[in-house]
Amino acid sequence: MRATIPQILEMARAGEKLPMLTAYDYPTARLLDGAGIPLILVGDSLGQVVLGYPSTLPVSMNEMITHASAVVRGTEQALVIGDMPFMSYQTSEADGLRNAGRFLKEAGCQAIKLEGGRQVAPLVHQLVGYGIPVMGHIGLTPQSIHQLGGNRLQGRTAEQARELLADARALEAAGAFSVVLELVPAQVSRLISEELEIPTIGIGAGPYCDGQVLVINDLLGMTPGFNPKFLKRYAELGEVIQGAVKSYAEEVRSGAFPDREHSHWMSADEEALLLDS
Ligand code: KIV
Repeated sequence: MRATIPQILEMARAGEKLPMLTAYDYPTARLLDGAGIPLILVGDSLGQVVLGYPSTLPVSMNEMITHASAVVRGTEQALVIGDMPFMSYQTSEADGLRNAGRFLKEAGCQAIKLEGGRQVAPLVHQLVGYGIPVMGHIGLTPQSIHQLGGNRLQGRTAEQARELLADARALEAAGAFSVVLELVPAQVSRLISEELEIPTIGIGAGPYCDGQVLVINDLLGMTPGFNPKFLKRYAELGEVIQGAVKSYAEEVRSGAFPDREHSHWMSADEEALLLDS
C-alpha cells in the first residue's frame, strides 16, 4: 500500500526521521521503493542529472510528466512528489493549478513541490483547497539561481534567517504538508523545524530537520566532480559502471565475449543437415 500524507505526518509526529530521495526513472524508482524509501521526489534536478542541461531552468512540464509517470509505475509503497518546473506556476495561479493537476492526473503523483515562500503562499492555499498536497521549498531555490548569484548558503544573517522563518510559516499557514530547506545553516533549520508543526526536509541544512533529501545520482557517486560539503556518497557506482563497461569493451575487442556459455547452439543433427544442403 502506498504511503499517504496523513501517514507521513504521523511518522514525523512520532519522531521518525523521514528519508527522501529523488528518482527520475522506472528502474531506480523500483529499487528505492523496494528499499523502503517513503518519499520519492521527481525533482527538476532531472535537468542537470539526467537531461544534461546546465541548470533546472530549461526543464519542461512535459519532460517532468514523462519521468514522473515512470517513477510512479516503478513504485507501490512510496509517496511520489512531482516538482513544478520553472515557469509552470510563476506565470499565473491558473497555470499553477493546471500544471500541478497534470502531475496527479497524468503522472499519478500524490503531491507536488514548488519553490518559494510568502510569494507562492496564495497558490499553495488554492492547490491545497483543490486537494493537491504541496511540499514547499525555501532557502536555496535553484530556479532563482540568477537572482541568488549561485549555489550560495542562504539565511546566513539573523535578518535573512527571520525572512526564511516567515516564508516557512506562510507555507505552513497556506496548507503545505512539508517544506524543503535547502542550503541553510543548521541553526536556521533547527529554528524553523522547532517552529513548524509540519515536517522539514533538509538538503545541506544540517541534522535538525525532520527528514533529509539527496539527489540519488549524487548519493550513488554518479555525478563526478560534484562535491558540495553536504554531500555524502554512499557508493561509487560511476566507477563500478565504467569498470564494467571497460571490461565488456576489452572482451569484445579480444573475442573473449561472447564465449560458448553466452551463445545459443543448434543441435548437432540440425547442424549436419544445414551443412549437407
Ligand atoms: O530538484 C530537486 O532534486 C530538488 C531537491 C534537491 C530538493 O528540488
